[in-house]
Amino acid sequence: MAKILTLTLNPALDVTVSLEALRTGAVNRASAQHSHAAGKGLNVAQVLADLGHELSVSGFLGLDNLAPFDALMQRRGFVDGFIRVPGETRSNIKLVEHGGQVTDINGPGPEVDEAARQALLDRLDQLAPGHDVVVVAGSLPRGISTQWLEALLIRLKAMGLKVAFDSSGAALEAGLRAVPWLVKPNTEELGEVLGTPVHGFAEQREAAQRLIGQGIEHVVVSQGEQGVNWFSRGAVLQGLPPQVTIASTVGAGDSLLAGMVHGLLAGEAAEQTLRRATAIAAQAVSQIGFGINDRAQLARFETEVRIQTPSAEQEGEQ
Ligand SMILES: Nc1ncnc2c1ncn2[C@@H]1O[C@H](COP(=O)(O)OP(=O)(O)OP(=O)(O)O)[C@@H](O)[C@H]1O
Ligand SMILES: [Mg+2]
Repeated sequence: MAKILTLTLNPALDVTVSLEALRTGAVNRASAQHSHAAGKGLNVAQVLADLGHELSVSGFLGLDNLAPFDALMQRRGFVDGFIRVPGETRSNIKLVEHGGQVTDINGPGPEVDEAARQALLDRLDQLAPGHDVVVVAGSLPRGISTQWLEALLIRLKAMGLKVAFDSSGAALEAGLRAVPWLVKPNTEELGEVLGTPVHGFAEQREAAQRLIGQGIEHVVVSQGEQGVNWFSRGAVLQGLPPQVTIASTVGAGDSLLAGMVHGLLAGEAAEQTLRRATAIAAQAVSQIGFGINDRAQLARFETEVRIQTPSAEQEGEQ
């Protein structure tokens, strides 16, 4: 069991609204509505807790709607390192139609000012030392610049922590400059920061090699139902998920990230690390929500995951 810190700078209250069919510009009646405390770092923390680790969680929370976040941290026994800021934590609204179409509306989140930024740094100076790894995941709230994020990752590394990082766009680009230990972009996010699509294996390998050359140890490229390509110095492994019926893809990337961190910290063989991580992500997809709620199913998925090295054809791909 490891001691793990996750940072969610821009958490969200996920609000899922189910309805027959969405009609814009009209009054719609929902058949169900659920909300729960979320945000990528908090999601990763929950999966890692399911895997038996000890978790601390930090970032920024709006003072006006703390209750679901406080309840989650209490229920899961997380050490609460969040800085409270004026305003409301954003809501990410998912409008789910019976046909399966999902429309997302993501709120902006509270503004983080200089005092709150300093308060987080002070809190982390106290809290972070002694953790084995820090997972920094998700987008940036208003008031946090990409330069500030880069400096934050460098500061965490200087405390001796391994940094696992998952973000997108300009935040991902800035975070990569800080040379984290592990990154988990999906193909779209990796392509966006490189300014060129990376759908093919050869393109991914070239991109990953460049990042590894800069000192990043693990580049985990996720590609939805096609699984995962994991690049590290001198090695590539591919995880091919079992076929699952999709209930909701919410938390798939976060589950994969948690599974990779778990296997690497436990010092498991690379193949087993990727096998379990791919199975945990498949399980997330096969259920509403995510987390390890059915251990027998996870064990079955693990046996069904295929782990392979790139084929000669992929290796030769231009
Ligand atoms: N349909 C699927 N069947 C099985 N496994 C899946 C499926 N979709 C995703 N996964 C698993 O989940 C992992 C992460 O999914 P994806 O690449 O979509 O991440 P992401 O885009 O970062 O997602 P997120 O929205 O959670 O950030 C994949 O690498 C794969 O292992
Ligand atoms: Mg993702």
